[in-house]
Parts: sequence; structure tokens; C-alpha cells
Amino acid sequence: MALLLAQAVDAVKREDFKTCEQSAFCLRHRQFAEGIAETAQQPGLVGSDQPLRSASPYSVVPGSVRLDRHTLLALVEHKDDGVPLKFELTFLAGGTVRVRAQEEAPLAPRFDDTQRHTLRDEGSALPYASPESLQLSSTTANGAVVHTVNFTGEAAASSVRITEQPWSLTYLRNDKPVVQLNSKGFFKFEHLRKRPDGDDAGSADGEWEETFRTWTDSKPRGPESFGLDISFVGFEHVYGIPEHTSPLSLKPTRGGDKGGYDQPYRLYNLDVFEYEIDNPMALYGSIPLMLAHSAEATVGVLWLNAAETWVDVAHEKSSFIGSFFRRGSAGGEPTVSTHWISESGVLDVFLFPGPSVADTYRQYAAIVEQTPLPRDFALGYHQSRWNYLDEADVLTINDKMHEHDIPYDVVWLDIEHTDGKRYFTWDGAKFPNPVAMQERLGRDGHRVVTVVDPHVKRDTSYSVWSEANERGFFARTKDGSSLQGWCWPGDSSWVDLFNPDAAAWFSELYHLDRYNGSTRNLFIWNDMNEPAIFNGPEITMDKDALHDGGWEHRDVHNLYGMLYHKAAADGLRTRESPSLRPFVLSRSYFAGSQRYGAVWTGDNTADWEHLRASVPMVLSNNVAGMHFVGADVGGFFGNPDATLLTRWYQLGIWYPFFRAHAHIDTKRREPWLLGEPYLTHIREAVRERYRLLPYWYTLFREASLTGMPIARPMWMEFPAEKGLFAEDRAFMVGPAIMVVPVTDSDAMLPVDVVFPQQENWYDLHTHELYVGPARRQFSVGLADTLVFARGGSIVPTRERHRRSTALMRRDPFTLYVYVGRAGTAAGKLYVDDGESYGYASGAFIERDLSFANATLVSRPSARTAAGAAAAQASFAASMSGIRVERVVVVGLRNPLTQATVREGGEERTIDLHCGGSQVDAECVVRDPAVRIGGDWEIALA
Ligand SMILES: *[C@@H]1O[C@H](CO)[C@@H](O)[C@H](O)[C@H]1NC(C)=O
Ligand SMILES: *[C@@H]1O[C@H](CO)[C@@H](O)[C@H](O)[C@H]1NC(C)=O
Ligand SMILES: *[C@@H]1O[C@H](CO)[C@@H](O)[C@H](O)[C@H]1NC(C)=O
Repeated sequence: MALLLAQAVDAVKREDFKTCEQSAFCLRHRQFAEGIAETAQQPGLVGSDQPLRSASPYSVVPGSVRLDRHTLLALVEHKDDGVPLKFELTFLAGGTVRVRAQEEAPLAPRFDDTQRHTLRDEGSALPYASPESLQLSSTTANGAVVHTVNFTGEAAASSVRITEQPWSLTYLRNDKPVVQLNSKGFFKFEHLRKRPDGDDAGSADGEWEETFRTWTDSKPRGPESFGLDISFVGFEHVYGIPEHTSPLSLKPTRGGDKGGYDQPYRLYNLDVFEYEIDNPMALYGSIPLMLAHSAEATVGVLWLNAAETWVDVAHEKSSFIGSFFRRGSAGGEPTVSTHWISESGVLDVFLFPGPSVADTYRQYAAIVEQTPLPRDFALGYHQSRWNYLDEADVLTINDKMHEHDIPYDVVWLDIEHTDGKRYFTWDGAKFPNPVAMQERLGRDGHRVVTVVDPHVKRDTSYSVWSEANERGFFARTKDGSSLQGWCWPGDSSWVDLFNPDAAAWFSELYHLDRYNGSTRNLFIWNDMNEPAIFNGPEITMDKDALHDGGWEHRDVHNLYGMLYHKAAADGLRTRESPSLRPFVLSRSYFAGSQRYGAVWTGDNTADWEHLRASVPMVLSNNVAGMHFVGADVGGFFGNPDATLLTRWYQLGIWYPFFRAHAHIDTKRREPWLLGEPYLTHIREAVRERYRLLPYWYTLFREASLTGMPIARPMWMEFPAEKGLFAEDRAFMVGPAIMVVPVTDSDAMLPVDVVFPQQENWYDLHTHELYVGPARRQFSVGLADTLVFARGGSIVPTRERHRRSTALMRRDPFTLYVYVGRAGTAAGKLYVDDGESYGYASGAFIERDLSFANATLVSRPSARTAAGAAAAQASFAASMSGIRVERVVVVGLRNPLTQATVREGGEERTIDLHCGGSQVDAECVVRDPAVRIGGDWEIALA
């Protein structure tokens, strides 16, 4: 949560946060880029195959280029400074290219541990291309020296071409440029240097000291920032780089385009009070992963840097481009040019060549671990508020949920449950017996989440503070003393999670024998972990504060929240043996945070604009690999009216993470308080979430292995439909379900729905058929939601009403077959125990379901074969009583009369119940009684 509402204002306090002009290094790079663009002697031919001539002062040192196994090495120098920069281009399997650069002989080491905290196996085992697959050739044409490395990318002849003077890099697929580095000449690298003589030498540009409002950043190392332009040739849309409140398709930030921003997208994790919609300001999390998409291809870029980073975006077709980028050729392709600027660290960029969406995520997943399978309950409904007052209040919430037949999994406790905001403690008057409370909730499979924030109250009688203090585990000021700041408990310190001993110690505080009053039924919420410091610059830590190894906070800022999240996940995983999967929600995050749990979009507001904006925010996070994300249902600040709250539930059930939450100053808004008809609509919505949990869980399984998003922009499923590239109201949940949220208070206002592709679409509730491509308008009453199943899909559900996910574990399944235009359908079902790591050794059931020739077939997935037979057999045995209780086939051309079930060499015939019309019949097979883990067929005739 953010600052108290005591000083509430209507909008974000922009003056608390820097603009690019107030961030000295950002300004220096932007001005440098403007100068380059103005002095460009010869316009670059964007998209042309010719070497580009920008005005860049940086060139490859002649004779320095060589190929060493899977790495191409080159030295690059500024024409005036004689400080060689070492460039390393590493070629990975699948066509990914990694570009790294820093001084060949830096005066002091640069921070280079972001890779260790982010990449698989800490970056030690990347899938390199085989050296034999790489060929280097060098040519000179018209005096320009060009080096080309040919290799085989993802099913295409690929090459990387490097021009020497000035340096630029072009990634080509089938001889066509796709991504270019420094083709605009914006590359600028501030090499480490000795402080010039004179007290304020250099400080005019903010190089050695910088002041923002009342804070001074001492910058003992001086300037060390760098920037680089990355152009996506042939693309008109880029996505990702959360967290911002911009539309899904990122708006331009240069040139004052109509509707564009005048600030770059900022990546610097911050606690932004009452954030604004449609703004490139930084928010709580930062993932420097961007995707570009066109009808022909998808590509990705990961800018692996955890320091403050700004990203300018320019569209070639925008009006200012002619002057800013000096586009020389009328025949140039549309291009999105981006300019990335980071304050410190090393330059480290991965280029993922795609060309399909799935290829791009496979390439990303090869280097960064994806969202692991969550606990099954974590996909259920989470009921939170700041704050449930005491044990009686919590138990009332539980009883009311039962009384009103609303399934839920977790009650959340915010900061007020503690003894004076000392985390890992309880307010003994309000929560005298937390263990009994958790056990009581556990009877129906419910859990508790408590908040643990990173500010540690400075109190010698608080064991967490005194232990950390004794062992020197706190982050330090530039002078070496333990850093103090102001947060919820008052005067506080922050654990230095970059110290491995401190991180290990901290994670153990989550153990059952350390966290008094915790049980296996308690899970964790990390808030304020940007970290938020009320009296710090931009409400966070001083950049010159120090961490383990002498690194400045400036180097590691965007990693802090992730390491805090990791410590909690590690603590929960190791609190019992054998380990169960943890569940931890975090507000702050970075690339790789998906490994540790879920995140949410922070402190939103109870209005329609925030409801609408939650969709592009959830989608942008999914684009960037942060799959397990949601927005606070109802809006954190303010009081939603009953219509808004109902609509928010109807959307919120489609967020991968589904939690209702509210500020302490808001009115209570639990579903039963709304009365009818709202309560009924909310109950229906929540039940829909629970019904579809088997589908959600199967999507998480896929995401864990393939990196494919769960909440997907429409373009991901319909990659050639240009009309959908900027769509960010409608979205897909997995491949099978399209959600078109109602985001307007006026129920009379018709809602536009685009049915893509030549495909059947079925209303998820009525099964009414819509045939694409088509655009339809719907009038929607409050009971109506616009959710459609895509023809050609099979969706597994569980239909029995239960109080919690845990109580559904032995329920039978229903399979919905939504017949496509071709008369076929396909889907998957994944099942495991929902809590252990047994799946890693084969304790799971994964079925490929297919429907063709009016026959539904269940076969083991190819992955099943990889599991250990013993684990598989014992899990299958435990599930042998779990059957399919119903098959619903929607969209048959003719009603049929009987179903023949074949399983285990036996065959039986059962009645079929069909209704509907000649062109759109629906048939139900009641209780075919086939086992969920078995091979079987059901033939309709
Ligand atoms: C690299 O590929 C290009 C075209 O794809 C070709 O003209 C060139 O000969 C290749 N070079 C080598 C060294 O294989
Ligand atoms: C937990 O209880 C023990 C024993 O009463 C006490 O020593 C310890 O400080 C408590 N832990 C916390 C975090 O308060
Ligand atoms: C469907 O039936 C036709 C004709 O009997 C056959 O050729 C085809 O292979 C069948 N398709 C499938 C997927 O079984």
C-alpha cells in the first residue's frame, strides 16, 4: 500500500518523481541523440541492406574483430577518447544473439551480477551455438568494412552483420534486416574516469553530483551510463517493458506525436501514490523485455540491466521522424526505433529472433526460468483488505463466504495484524491465537496470507532488528553506517539481500520454528519492496547507499524487490520436508521474478478508467513473462459503486491472479454487503473461475515449460490480423477463451466484439454460435458478460460447487468440446497433486484431447513419456477413481443419437442427449465414466 490518505490528493504527485530532464544521465543521452540526429551527414536507409552511415563517433578498431568459438569479439572506440570498449557477441542455439559491452580495461569493475540473479543456472550454462555452425567473413565495399557471421537460426539462414565505421549491427533472417543496433548512432558509453580537479568539475551535467528536490546523490564513481538505439525493421508495434499504465501497443515518446508521450518509459521500481493511467512513469516493477510483432514475425529484446533505465520509442511513420531520424528513403520499411539508456552496470542485450510468438518465448525460456507451477489454491479467489481487524473478523469472513456459497481460498492480513508493524509478529490483543485461527480455516481448505514488508522497525527489543543489526545485515549509507529511513513502523532499517548470508538468514525467518504463530497453512505477501522509504528520494533508497561487495544501490535498485521475493519463496519452500510449493505475492519485481510467485499491479483506484487499464497492464506483464499477475479487484483507493464492483469481479476472474483488496479508509465491500442482484452476479463470476480451474492449471503448466503467456494479447493468437495488433480491451485466456470485459458504467452502451478469423465462436454461457470474421455489438445487462470459446478448442472444467480448491481435488471432470469449422477440436488437461514437486519426477497426468470424425480421444501427452514410470504409476493409481462425468460437444452440424465408449478393450453404448439446430447442435454424454488418466475414445453417431 502507499502513503496514508491523510494527505490525499486527487492524482499522483508527479513532483515526487523525476522526469528524464531531472535525471542527469537520461538528459545527457537524450541530448546526445538529438545532436546525432541533427548532424547526421548522410541519412540512414532504414530497412535497406546497405551499411548505414550515422553520425556516431564510435567505430570498430580495425583488425580487432575475431571469432572465438561461439563468441565474436571486437573493440569499439570513440573517435576522441581512446578508451577501447570490448564488445562480445555470443551466439546461442536457436538464433539468439547476446551483445555485451564495457571498457576493455575498466578503472574499476562494473556491476555485472544482474545476469547471476536473472539467468538460468545463474548464467553459467547458456545453450551456446556450436562453433562449427558459425562462419565469419569480412568484406570491404566502397571503403566500408563489413563483418558477417552466418549461422542457422530458428529454421532460417541468419546472419549478423557488423559495419566498422561507425559501428552498427544488423540481425538478418533470410537476408532481411530484422533488428539493428546503433543504426541511428545513439550509442554512447560513459567510460569510468578519474574525478577531474576542482570541487564542482563535472557537476554541472550532474556527472559527479546530482540534486533532486532536497536529496543529493553523491555519485562517487562519476558518470558510467550508456545508451543504445535498437530498431525493429518492418515492425509497427512494440510491447512489454512493464510496468507502466500505457496502452498495450507502446505509444511513441519522441517527437510530440499526437497521442504520444513526451517522456521515455522509465524502469525504476517505485511506490507511486495514486498512479495515473496512460503514463510512461515508472511503477513498482521493471521488466526490460520488449517484443515487436508484425504479420510476418515476432522478435524480442531483453536489456539485462537493473539500474535506472529509460526507453524512448519512435515510430517511423510518425510525422516527426523525417527530421528526427532523417529517413532518407521513401521506400524504407516501417520501423520502430527504440533508445535504451541505463545509469550503470554493463551493456548486456539479448536479441531473440522468433520468428513466431512461440519461438520467441522458447528462446527467452532457454535463458530465463519461467513461471513454475503454482500451488493450486493460489489460482482461486483471494479475499483481502487493509485490514481484517481480528480473529473474529477473519472467521466471520469465512462464515459469510460459506453462507453465501461463494468459493474462496485465502483470507489476507495486511500490516495491522502485527505488533506495531514488526513483521513475523502478531498483535496479541487482536490475534491471540493465530494457529487456532489457521486450523479453523484449514478445515475447509482455506489459507491465510500475512504481509511481510522489508522495512525492519528499529527497536532493540525486536529480535529481527537486533539480530540483523548484530550481524551487520543491513544496507548501509554511503558513509558505511546502517541506513535508516521512515516507513510504516517509523524509523526502520532494510536488510541487505545482496549479502548471501543476510538473504539466507532472512529466508529462515519464514520457517515454522522462527515465525511464531505461523503454520503450513500460512503464505506470504511482500509489499513495499521497491523498497519504499517515505523520506527517501523518490520514496525509495538513496542511490549512493551501499550493498554487499561495495555496490551502490544505483547498480542494483531494480533487483531489490526480486531478491526480497526470493527470500520469502525460499523460506516457505524450505520450511517443511519434503518441500511444498511456496506462494508469495510481491509488489516489486524484475525479469526473473516469475520464479518466485505472483505480483499485482499495486495501488489502483476504484474507477472505470483503472478497471479498463488493468487489462493492458496485465497483458504487458504477461508479454514480459510475468504471467501470474492481477489487479486489485474493486480498486484499492476509493469506494466503487455496486455496478463497478460487479463488473470488476466479472473481469477479475480472468486475471491470472484474482484478489479483491481495499484501502483501510474505504467502506467494507465484501460481496454479500452489496445485496441483490450484485451478490448473485459476483457469486456466478467467482464460481466461473472455480469451474475453469482445470483449464487455468493446464495453462500454468504450459507457461512453466514454454514461457507462453496465460493472459494473451489478441495478436498472439491471431498473429496475421493487423486489426488486432493494438487491441487491448479484448484478450485471450490461453488459446481457447476470449474475454471482452464490460468497462463502462452505462449498461445501455453497446459493446463491440470482434470475432477473429474464419472460425466458430461460442458464447461460453449460452453456447450461441458466432461465425468469424465478424464484428458484432452486444447490449449487456449487469448479468451479462462477453466471454467466448474458440471453435476448435477442448476445455476441461470441474462443475461441482465447493468451498475451496482443496475440496475439489477428487471431483470428476467435465470436458467441453467446441467444434471448429473443420469439424475438429483439440485441447489438453494437466493434473497433479497441486502442491508438491512430485510432478518433476513424473507424478502427473497430462492428456492430449482431440475430437475428429465425431470421436473424442484421450491420449497421454508426449511429455508423459519423459516422466519416471514409478512416480507416474503411483500418481495414476491415486487418481484412478477420478472420472469424466460429462462431455458436452458444442457446434455439431447434426444432432446425433448415441455414444460408444471404448476404454481398456471394452466397449459400451450410452444415450446421447442432443438439442439445438441442424447447423449448431449440442450433445451431452452423461457419465461416460472414463478415467481421467486412461486411454479412451467416445464416438458419437
Ligand atoms: C553468408 O550468407 C550470405 C547470404 O545469406 C552469403 O552470400 C555468404 O556467402 C555467406 N557467407 C559465408 C561465409 O558463408
Ligand atoms: C518468537 O518467540 C520466541 C519465544 O517466545 C521469541 O524468542 C522470539 O523473539 C519470537 N520471534 C519473533 C519474531 O518475535
Ligand atoms: C476421419 O475419417 C476419414 C474417413 O473415414 C478418414 O480418412 C480420416 O483419417 C479420419 N480422421 C481422423 C482424424 O481420424
